[in-house]
Amino acid sequence: EKGGYDYFMLKEIAEQPKAVADTLLGRIDAAGSLTLDEVRIGAAELRELDKVVIVACGTAFHAGLIAKYAIEHWTRLPCEVELASEFRYRDPILDPRSLVVAISQSGETMDTLMALRHAREQGSKVLAICNTNGSTIPRESDAVLYTHAGPEVAVASTKAFLTQLVACYLVALYLGQVRGTKWGDEIRAVIRDLSRISGAVERVLETMEPVRALARSLAGKKTVLFLGRHVGYPVALEGALKLKELAYMHAEGFAAGELKHGPIALIEEDLPVVVVVPSPRGRSVLHDKIVSNIQEIRARGARTIVIAEEGDDAVVPYADHLIRIPVTPTLLQPLVSTVPLQVFACELATARGNEVDQPRNLAKSVTVE
Ligand code: F6R
Repeated sequence: EKGGYDYFMLKEIAEQPKAVADTLLGRIDAAGSLTLDEVRIGAAELRELDKVVIVACGTAFHAGLIAKYAIEHWTRLPCEVELASEFRYRDPILDPRSLVVAISQSGETMDTLMALRHAREQGSKVLAICNTNGSTIPRESDAVLYTHAGPEVAVASTKAFLTQLVACYLVALYLGQVRGTKWGDEIRAVIRDLSRISGAVERVLETMEPVRALARSLAGKKTVLFLGRHVGYPVALEGALKLKELAYMHAEGFAAGELKHGPIALIEEDLPVVVVVPSPRGRSVLHDKIVSNIQEIRARGARTIVIAEEGDDAVVPYADHLIRIPVTPTLLQPLVSTVPLQVFACELATARGNEVDQPRNLAKSVTVE
């Protein structure tokens, strides 16, 4: 049932191009518009919204953090992202003009369920993004957009995360489409790029051998840091979470712009630091800033592991290890930049003799608060 792979996690990582394609299937029409019939919240109501609030836990929360960049950019609606476990205990401001998006692979996470119940009590509409048909969270929501990742068996989430991202982009683009924004042309272009993105995920998977070799060489380390900016920041958090869960190593993700506000004090000789570099096109100012960050940490002895777009030559002089990812639109980059981090964590766990599919102390779905 592992389809020739040693672990479900490896199988599920390999299934990501298909999971992404399946999640897009039937949702983009021939004219390049989105048809999200499942979002049974009428266009008039969507036009009335004044904010979006995303609630989720763990990896799904990281998908939500990325969604915020997309939703705010394409719809100009304010978007808050909150850990479901914190949400309802702080008396959040919600009303019928707030759209609450609950993201959950299992559809059974108690914290997320309690958050959505609280939101509905305040009169907000809840849209679930979920991978499990008929589970509790979609049943208790006003509408559901299913991710079509197929069953995810490994405790650490991989393909579900990528499909959650796809679903979040679809929601963001759909809201943009329905509400109409000045980004109409960009939205059409991104829908086209999204429809081809599974090929890019496939290409990343074909180049992972050096990442595995690097991971094995770091098996004796205690700490790995992850840096990113913009949508690369949640990717850094996700890379760190995967490493904690699987390799039981101390791993932390930081926004690269925060380095000088504290984390740079952690840098010491030969400390592995993974840096997710934004595209040099588009928001190129961020790219240049992160290249300076890489220089700064390397000057202090860090071993830099740089994830950068094909053709981005500016990073080459400062990268001890360079991992290339395909060129994508800025906001879609997490779909390709997360993959090497999954492979990295999985291989490090194996090298350390850990149980990859069933890490200690963890459960696949957390049905208690
Ligand atoms: C990380 C992981 C967890 C889950 C979290 C939410 O690899 O698997 O952090 O993402 O427990 O679970 P769902 O998405 O089922 O609500």
